[in-house]
Amino acid sequence: MSQQVLKRLSDALDAAEENGTYKHLKSLKTAIGPDVSIEGVGDVLLFCSNDYLGFANNTDVVSAARSALDHYGASTASVRFICGTQDIHETLEQDIANLHGTEAALTYSSCWAANTGLFSAICAPGDVILSDELNHASLIDGIRVAGKEVTKTVYKHSDMADLRAKLEAHKEAPGRIIVTDGVFSMEGDIAPLDQLVALAKEYDALIVLDDSHGLGVVGETGLGVAEHYGVLDQIDIFTGTLGKALGAGTGGFIAGPKAVRETLIQKSRPHLFSNALPPSVAAAGSASIKLLKENPERVKELQEKATWFRNRLNALGLNPLEGESAIVPVILGETSTAIRVAGEMLDAGIFVTGFGFPVVPEGEARVRFQVSYLHTKENLEKAAQTLANIIN
Ligand SMILES: Cc1ncc(COP(=O)(O)O)c(C=O)c1O
Repeated sequence: MSQQVLKRLSDALDAAEENGTYKHLKSLKTAIGPDVSIEGVGDVLLFCSNDYLGFANNTDVVSAARSALDHYGASTASVRFICGTQDIHETLEQDIANLHGTEAALTYSSCWAANTGLFSAICAPGDVILSDELNHASLIDGIRVAGKEVTKTVYKHSDMADLRAKLEAHKEAPGRIIVTDGVFSMEGDIAPLDQLVALAKEYDALIVLDDSHGLGVVGETGLGVAEHYGVLDQIDIFTGTLGKALGAGTGGFIAGPKAVRETLIQKSRPHLFSNALPPSVAAAGSASIKLLKENPERVKELQEKATWFRNRLNALGLNPLEGESAIVPVILGETSTAIRVAGEMLDAGIFVTGFGFPVVPEGEARVRFQVSYLHTKENLEKAAQTLANIIN
């Protein structure tokens, strides 16, 4: 390897170590749950997993995966359109479509793959994509590769006046596509979908909603931000992950009209050129969807716990960002402060992540708590008190 390239890499790594932004991987010795054991650290309470409903190590999910491994083997060793589609993939896609009330769905190896494979497949020259400035990196990258003749615009975060102005400016375009996260992952706030839907109607725009952090968490039965606003039937295309509240471990999907699914099968590059989901994951996905449908009380309890935690942080003077999701960030300022506080939290037995620039704006570094249905009130109290002891 070129010594010049290697030196550049090591210099950048040294600089990251020096300014406290180097990401050191922590190795867990146990399954995901409210408490985990970390190599070299010991037992801690976990507050940074997306296992919102406790499905990641649920016996039904794990045994569905195990049975599929026994029956279908480890993988198809193929992409879907060659010989990588098993009946278990079709079942999962039907389950995803039924869950969202859409005509069809298509799975990918991750939501990252789904989001990066969507726009280039469905857009035509002259179309305009209007994307919230805080959308997830996978949407941003997917929009980037949508094609040179597609206009890409970014509207201010959840700012409907800005979005309206941009829709107005492009009202003659052949197609307008509004793209938003449901729950914004660094803020924990939710998109104003009721207003987005109204604007989409007015300007004949299509809505793409990535509700990766909303599914299983927001809405009366956990169907996400669209359920929260009562607009499930007005979202054109949903994207999402099987790797957060749905505890399949990995996998993503796009749900929407049949014409979208069929177009993606013809043209979406991560679908055409990357292997199918392992059958064990497909089975775990279907088992998770069944659990979600049969246990709406889990969703309610998770929502109550997240609200309780936010209130408790407020009572301790810690001012978490407001929101309806299970993501609860507390802004601390400088990146090095967030990294230091997260380190002290870990020493005190709470595993929470510090996020700094460039993931969040300069001066708005934060620790981000993620509440799970599996957390007890005592777990939540300990996390809140620990942060208060460190920063007050
Ligand atoms: C909003 C959003 N979309 C997509 C993804 C990617 O999901 P996956 O892990 O399935 O690739 C994430 C993961 O962090 C996310 O938060």
